Amino acid sequence: MGYCIEVEDLVVESEGQRIIDNVSFKVECGEYVVVTGPSGGGKSVLLRTISGGVGYLTGLRTKGRVYINGVNVLEEGVKSIAGTVGVVLQNPVNQVFNLTVEEEVAFPLENMGLDPSTIGERVEWALSLLGVGGLRKKLVSELSMGQLQRVVVASIIAMKPKIMFLDEPCSHIDPAFKKEFYATLRDLWKALGLTIIVVEHELSHVLGYATKMLLLNRRLVAYGDPVELLSKVNIEEYGVKEPPHVKYCRLLKSKLRPISENEVVECLKEVFCRDS
Ligand SMILES: Nc1ncnc2c1ncn2[C@@H]1O[C@H](COP(=O)(O)OP(=O)(O)OP(=O)(O)O)[C@@H](O)[C@H]1O
Ligand SMILES: [Mg+2]
Repeated sequence: MGYCIEVEDLVVESEGQRIIDNVSFKVECGEYVVVTGPSGGGKSVLLRTISGGVGYLTGLRTKGRVYINGVNVLEEGVKSIAGTVGVVLQNPVNQVFNLTVEEEVAFPLENMGLDPSTIGERVEWALSLLGVGGLRKKLVSELSMGQLQRVVVASIIAMKPKIMFLDEPCSHIDPAFKKEFYATLRDLWKALGLTIIVVEHELSHVLGYATKMLLLNRRLVAYGDPVELLSKVNIEEYGVKEPPHVKYCRLLKSKLRPISENEVVECLKEVFCRDS
């Protein structure tokens, strides 16, 4: 399979300071990449840049190349990938422009030139997929941040883009719904053959199926198979919480010899008792 996304020697600077420092990576079509790293490590700037939206971030300068399906978005701009890439920003407030929920989801579909009945079906489908079908007639201004975030995700999914970039899409969503959200995203990824890059610091939701993990701290610290990466790098040094089962396996592995029942109990205590 070919590469959908190729990032080469990417630098993003603000007043001479490097926010993204010489980052290169490639994503094959159909992959599911989770980007993680410390707060302020450049995850949101990276996502905005590779989606051609860095122009909206005033005062930032870019160097390098970012190809989406062979198009250099740093030169061609956000319009060159409209319809191909759907972007969910970290702050949903920056992404709503319409009065009602229904209009918000329908608006980009109208711009795509879809017929009214298809638009109606897609709006219904996307809102119910995100568990907010009942909010269809509501004013956007009446929604909670969590509801707004779900509506924004629905408005992107309704366009059925081939590539999706999501920046902490659950940051305002009720934790109880987070697991369900990621299960829905995984099903869509498989059903629609999407390529996904998602910024997330709670790795337990995505570790079971993400094909790659990218650890970013202005520089690219590590990129590769998530399990391999986690066995080599202690992500907690970068402010990312290690999922309990990963910590447990690492602690057991560190014994490197047959271990007693007591040691297993000690490892379990270390993971599940001292964390809380
Ligand atoms: N438009 C901008 N102009 C100048 N500096 C910026 C701009 N946007 C972000 N930065 C700076 O770039 C750095 C990285 O910010 P970014 O928002 O990408 O981090 P992040 O990894 O997404 O953090 P978080 O996990 O808190 O969302 C920060 O120091 C931030 O202050
Ligand atoms: Mg961010």
